[in-house]
Amino acid sequence: MRLFFALWPPEAVRAQLARWSRELRALCGGRPTPVENLHLTVAFLGSVARVAEVERAAREVAVRRATLLLDRAGFWKHNRIVWAGTSLAPAGVEQFARDLRGVLARHEIGFDAKPFATHVTLLRDAREPQSMPALEPIAWEVDGFALVRSQPGAGGSRYEAVATWTAAA
Ligand code: 2AM
Repeated sequence: MRLFFALWPPEAVRAQLARWSRELRALCGGRPTPVENLHLTVAFLGSVARVAEVERAAREVAVRRATLLLDRAGFWKHNRIVWAGTSLAPAGVEQFARDLRGVLARHEIGFDAKPFATHVTLLRDAREPQSMPALEPIAWEVDGFALVRSQPGAGGSRYEAVATWTAAA
């Protein structure tokens, strides 16, 4: 089973991100992430058989409530992704990524060790724009995290939450 941990935006935030995506696509082309799939990956595990153990490990960590202000879009040349991000990641979210990755390592659960980068992928196979437009900032009230299963399908990956955890106050 292909799994990853993610912060899942509420519907209103996804709708705002979809607006960014449409605006950015007019400049950069590319394939938009379907609105129901928009998310922020915290740790990508890949294929995992021991799902119960992953869930047990996740119970040892908590994310705190925080406002994540998505206020900038960016483009990565190496994978041609256009993403939504923040100029100032809340300390709680960065701490959560460290805690979660620490717990996974302690349980010897493998994950992609690329450093955590706060980003929501909006477009794939995009072109680099001359400049990024100014976009209406999006305030995302982070209220939990999810363990998500990715299923490849004809029309792209489908994501399904295996388990969710609510944020601590
Ligand atoms: P991306 O959007 O930057 O490509 C599901 O594939 C999610 O896990 C995506 O958000 C993807 O990030 C992320 N991810 C992180 N590392 C990955 C990897 N090695 N392979 C596939 N997806 C990865």
